[in-house]
Amino acid sequence: MKKKKLTLFSAIQPSGNLTIGNYISVLRYWKYLQKDYKCIFCIADLHSLTSFKKKKENLSIKKSILDTLALYLACGVDPNQSIVFIQSSVSEHSELNWVLSCYSSYQELTRMTQFKSKILDYRRHINSGLFNYPVLMASDILLYKTDKVHVGEDQKQHIELTRNIANKFNSIYGKIFKIPDILIYKSGARIMSLLDPKRKMSKSDKNVKSTIFLLEDPQDIFLKIKSSVTDSDLPPKIVFDMYKKPGISNLLIILSTLSGISLCELEKHFLGKSYFELKKEVYNIVEKNILKIQKKFFFYRNKKKLLYKIFSEGSYKASKIAKKTLAKIYKVLGLFKKYQ
Ligand code: TRP
Repeated sequence: MKKKKLTLFSAIQPSGNLTIGNYISVLRYWKYLQKDYKCIFCIADLHSLTSFKKKKENLSIKKSILDTLALYLACGVDPNQSIVFIQSSVSEHSELNWVLSCYSSYQELTRMTQFKSKILDYRRHINSGLFNYPVLMASDILLYKTDKVHVGEDQKQHIELTRNIANKFNSIYGKIFKIPDILIYKSGARIMSLLDPKRKMSKSDKNVKSTIFLLEDPQDIFLKIKSSVTDSDLPPKIVFDMYKKPGISNLLIILSTLSGISLCELEKHFLGKSYFELKKEVYNIVEKNILKIQKKFFFYRNKKKLLYKIFSEGSYKASKIAKKTLAKIYKVLGLFKKYQ
């Protein structure tokens, strides 16, 4: 077996509602990445507290965490090759979060575009966890001497912030943190909403018709794709142009990434064809992929004992690394070393 030298970290917030966007931009790569890297895949449940609100919803976090693990497994994550764990079960994430928040620039945090757009969405109540969200991400990443962070395009700014925090800390205390590189695959890095293709597809979109969920009934998916926004060009033109034809381009990207056929070949294939024909083919490939994932999902989701075992082993392995890093940080800060 090849010796894996570099550590790769990635995480997703727990939700049984992961979207085809999560799959195309991030999840589908993990199966392959774990062959080349020491992979650490985290379920970021503490991050989801920034949006889980009602008491009733808190109860379902547990269910969402199990759903997410089953989805990781369904997409080919192998707990024998990679560390898979829940963020809240390794308390060092929260501890480092506090330390790093004292080394993060308030001004830089106010410039985070995700925060700015969430303020506009939520309007009334903004919790400070939402503001601090990228610092917790930095803690996730820096605890594990991460070489590469694999994310979708929308998280790029948060990883740049992580690098800034780490560099700032290092400039004061010496080479404590490894500075992580960003890994973003260009193809399909940003899947857009079906109804508003200038916005990212999001699991929390108020209009569910904008989003294809991985665990959704294929019949509903068909209706959503059928009613997705295109344009009124006459005659219809199926070409890739993100600016002039965002709806068609989004459908082409979904089809291209899931089928492996290049955009160029697809343009040739659809020459003179109607938008409905494009939609039919997009649906067929989405259905094929989703049914495969769903079958495996239900297989794993029913094995609760296995899921708990994976979590307890994963947390144990992650804790071992995280404890060492945190002890080193407490030491350079002049705090008492943690007694374990
Ligand atoms: N914020 C990320 C998202 O919503 C999830 C996440 C949490 C993450 N911690 C991370 C991603 C650390 C990469 C590294 O997609």
